[in-house]
Amino acid sequence: MKLWGGRFQEETDGRMDDFHSSIHFDRRLYREDIAGSIAHATMLGECGIISKEEAEAICQGLEEILADIEAGKVEFDPAAEDIHMNIEKLLTEQIGDPGRKLHTGRSRNDQVALDLRMYLKREIEALQELLTELQRALLEQAESNQDVVMPGYTHLQRAQPVLFAHHMLAYFEMFQRDYERLSDCYKRTDVLPLGAGALAGTTFPIDRERVAELLGFSQIAQNSLDAVSDRDFAVEFLAAASLIMVHLSRLGEEIVIWSSQEFGFVELSDSFSTGSSIMPQKKNPDVAELVRGKTGRVFGDLVALLTVLKGLPLAYNKDMQEDKESVFDAVDTLKGCLEIMAPMISTMKLRPETTRKAAGGFALATDLADFLAKRGLPFRQAHEVLGKLVYHCIQNGKQLEELSLEELASFSPLFDGEALGLLSPEASVELRDHLGGTAPRQVAKQLARAQKILAGRQEKQQ
Ligand code: ARG
Repeated sequence: MKLWGGRFQEETDGRMDDFHSSIHFDRRLYREDIAGSIAHATMLGECGIISKEEAEAICQGLEEILADIEAGKVEFDPAAEDIHMNIEKLLTEQIGDPGRKLHTGRSRNDQVALDLRMYLKREIEALQELLTELQRALLEQAESNQDVVMPGYTHLQRAQPVLFAHHMLAYFEMFQRDYERLSDCYKRTDVLPLGAGALAGTTFPIDRERVAELLGFSQIAQNSLDAVSDRDFAVEFLAAASLIMVHLSRLGEEIVIWSSQEFGFVELSDSFSTGSSIMPQKKNPDVAELVRGKTGRVFGDLVALLTVLKGLPLAYNKDMQEDKESVFDAVDTLKGCLEIMAPMISTMKLRPETTRKAAGGFALATDLADFLAKRGLPFRQAHEVLGKLVYHCIQNGKQLEELSLEELASFSPLFDGEALGLLSPEASVELRDHLGGTAPRQVAKQLARAQKILAGRQEKQQ
């Protein structure tokens, strides 16, 4: 018989069990479910709602069930619907009557919200550690290639030279914001829903502060209806996860481009590349492509949950059972991507001669225009002069660096020997010497900032 079977006269149809059971995916929450139940039972005992002995029997029984599950000894029963009722059923089978008191003053509605919050708190911290690893890989690439120049692009057309380290640190910044977004999401996940009961609270004299303390929650949900209806924290998590995937996907895309023969900026390690079953010469950047490809799944998870929630009246509705698979899928996908991107980045080899060569030529045009502007020509006119110069070069099959001073001077009398000295990617980056610029001095400051961020994080974790 079902745990809720009292008012029912007929057996549940097997197809119904198959359709609405969630045990095949919410079994993942067994640790949280047991920890939550132990805290609840402890509080019930302390408040005299059940006896101390009953509370102890419950807690001990739950510990044993936990050990059994971890040892692979437990087979869950789909007819018991979900992880909550499976564990309650196991408990009652194991300890008898006290087990039947566990659900006093509680509902699966506040229980499931609790489990999901506890699960996400743990996973957010794990993801932050993985993000840190990726940031470290980016930082190390920046550190060990500090004087390498490469073209920066807009519209995927060569634009202006930048330091490769500057480019790596741009991603560091993106993942830094992601890290902070997760911390922010953690704050709103760290709110105890237990005590809301089914929706209206409970008639038992419970102590929610005590449960929050036992489970390490820093806040308590202030409205019982909201406590069981709220999945904002999960939406926020999925939004943060989606944005991390956007960043990973953009990085992946750059690596696909950079490792092409046409660019040849980087060579990926054999250990993180694949071959072709037919073309013997191929070395494919599968990691970067798959990360790019998996991004859609996580967006899907976000949109799925938003859609589940949008039409729901307060409070709990069974639709909300659909929240978990989206969250689990996003966690798994994101973890998998972060775990593989970090070593792929750290083992990637840069080809500095190739990036330097690509960073010269017309990518230096802005520097010459700036030169004329510094000599007093309004920038818009300087731009025009350079446009003509570039066109002249194209017509004559030349690069800017190959022009003589006479040729330059025929476009503007303001050009002199100093202008020729500007015509290298190194000179170009050197001049962008202000906060946030790509000059080596500024990039060194960014590096120091990044090192400090990671060092502070390590200290916090210890
Ligand atoms: N398996 C359910 C879920 O994941 C647990 C809560 C069920 N509550 C209920 N009243 N049916 O949402």
